[in-house]
Amino acid sequence: MNTEISRLRQEHVNFRKLLDLLEEQLDLFHRGESPNYQLMTDILHYMINYPDRFHHPREDAIFACLVKRNSGTAQSVEELARQHHVIAESGARLHENLENTINGALMPRQMIEAPGLLYVTYYRRHMEKEENDLFGLAEQLLRDDDWEQVNTGARLEPDPIFGAGVEDRYCALCGHVSKMNGGVS
Ligand SMILES: [Fe+2]
Ligand SMILES: [Fe+2]
Repeated sequence: MNTEISRLRQEHVNFRKLLDLLEEQLDLFHRGESPNYQLMTDILHYMINYPDRFHHPREDAIFACLVKRNSGTAQSVEELARQHHVIAESGARLHENLENTINGALMPRQMIEAPGLLYVTYYRRHMEKEENDLFGLAEQLLRDDDWEQVNTGARLEPDPIFGAGVEDRYCALCGHVSKMNGGVS
């Protein structure tokens, strides 16, 4: 299996764990319990600072090469690029609402719960579409010079939670992930 695509698939596994954690917290609203706002903020902080900045641009670069090799993928590629924008914008808004809540602003529950659930659902569908529609084709069709172009165009940074070392600000979140089935891998 192509190592670049394997990395993206593994990152999806990581992102799903964080989305599951976020969903668990959002479910607490329904049960009349208080969610852990700091945990939710940390999740969104990661989502807007790692996937939005490094995972999605890398996919955009890979998918742009894929369109050159198979023009039939153009519609899916365009849709997924649009979804990257939607994810980045809605994630940033949700993160801001969560931070404001922590800082004492009276945020109506609906400013967090509904957008949060929408974010989780939308993100999961987005990853499924990438895995089902494009990852396999990219593995088959991209050539060495395409991968070189991807590597020069989209830089890679170490993952601050699932990489070699955990960044200090994510230590508490990492503890929650470790308690889940599969932990931090
Ligand atoms: Fe994506
Ligand atoms: Fe992805």
